[in-house]
Amino acid sequence: MGNPSSKKRVLSGMRSTGKLHLGNYVGALENWVRMQEQYECFFFVADWHALTTDYADTSRIKENSVEVLLDWLAAGLDPEKCVMFIQSHVPSHAELHLLLSMITPLGWLERVPTYKEQRENIKEKDLGTYGFLGYPVLQSADILIYKADFVPVGEDQVAHVELTREIARRFNGFYAGKRAYVFPEPQSLLTPTPKLPGTDGRKMSKSYGNTILLTDPEPTIRLKLKTMVTDPARVRRTDPGNPDVCPVGDLHKIFSDKETMAKVNEGCRSAGIGCIECKGWAADALVKILNPMQERRKKYEENPRLAWDILEAGSARAQKISGATMDEVRDSMGMSLNYEPPRGSSK
Ligand code: TRP
Ligand code: SF4
Repeated sequence: MGNPSSKKRVLSGMRSTGKLHLGNYVGALENWVRMQEQYECFFFVADWHALTTDYADTSRIKENSVEVLLDWLAAGLDPEKCVMFIQSHVPSHAELHLLLSMITPLGWLERVPTYKEQRENIKEKDLGTYGFLGYPVLQSADILIYKADFVPVGEDQVAHVELTREIARRFNGFYAGKRAYVFPEPQSLLTPTPKLPGTDGRKMSKSYGNTILLTDPEPTIRLKLKTMVTDPARVRRTDPGNPDVCPVGDLHKIFSDKETMAKVNEGCRSAGIGCIECKGWAADALVKILNPMQERRKKYEENPRLAWDILEAGSARAQKISGATMDEVRDSMGMSLNYEPPRGSSK
């Protein structure tokens, strides 16, 4: 069974990390908001994926998932245009994960670059678990169960989509039988991610504590900008600087209009403006983008049930589509739920 809609299908997920920051916005969400106009989109909060690294304390996991959803709605994902749900509310993902785990060679998983990196870099948690090694298989199940055509991801996730294609091929090879295939091979759509520095100049990341949240009110944004690092060569007001080596300059490049950018370039290099003034303009640009999001968010904060209803409707839709795929998967593996008479019997 192919995809009945004429639109190509897109699927992507985001871990349930709690409130999102500007890095999540420019690295994924902004792109998703555009994609919902053109594709049949499924976006889900990957709470089971969050468990692969944060399994010991689940006290905030549900709250974190809802925070992510609220930020999606604030950013402009529209339940009329895309399907949004929480992974653990659609248990078929787990069933397909189990079946795919049977056919996935260990060597494929041990070779995934994020696996090696994270085992080496994250020392404070024990990641020597079955679930952590297998998490790309879960991701494959997430993608294949919707027969997604495209998977928008950042650079770090491309290897996971490649693995998904290999698993799909292996599954089709074993079980497609007379069909051409059960799972189409999905393609990753690499989201071009501009370099977005956090307040300390390193990449914006929750684990560095250098983020600007989509929910930060204007005074907080201005305060964070005030303490943001700048071109280290500009020690005094009279020293010229270079926006190309300044994290605030990077923010301007992403969020400011041409005129402001020109003023920054000229003023910084000639020491015609001070960093305080320049940071004020960067804060203006952020406030302009975040204000409408925070306005949109209010409706759901005042009435949290609304957001939950969106999730329930999304899960129902996702369950229906993923359930149909699972029927097909069971059938192709000779494990359908239908009665079949014993071999050799006519009844
Ligand atoms: N692994 C992704 C991340 O950590 C999240 C994710 C889970 C995902 N399942 C997915 C992304 C399926 C794309 C498709 O960011
Ligand atoms: Fe950075 Fe702006 Fe200061 Fe130049 S003027 S160093 S771009 S903050």
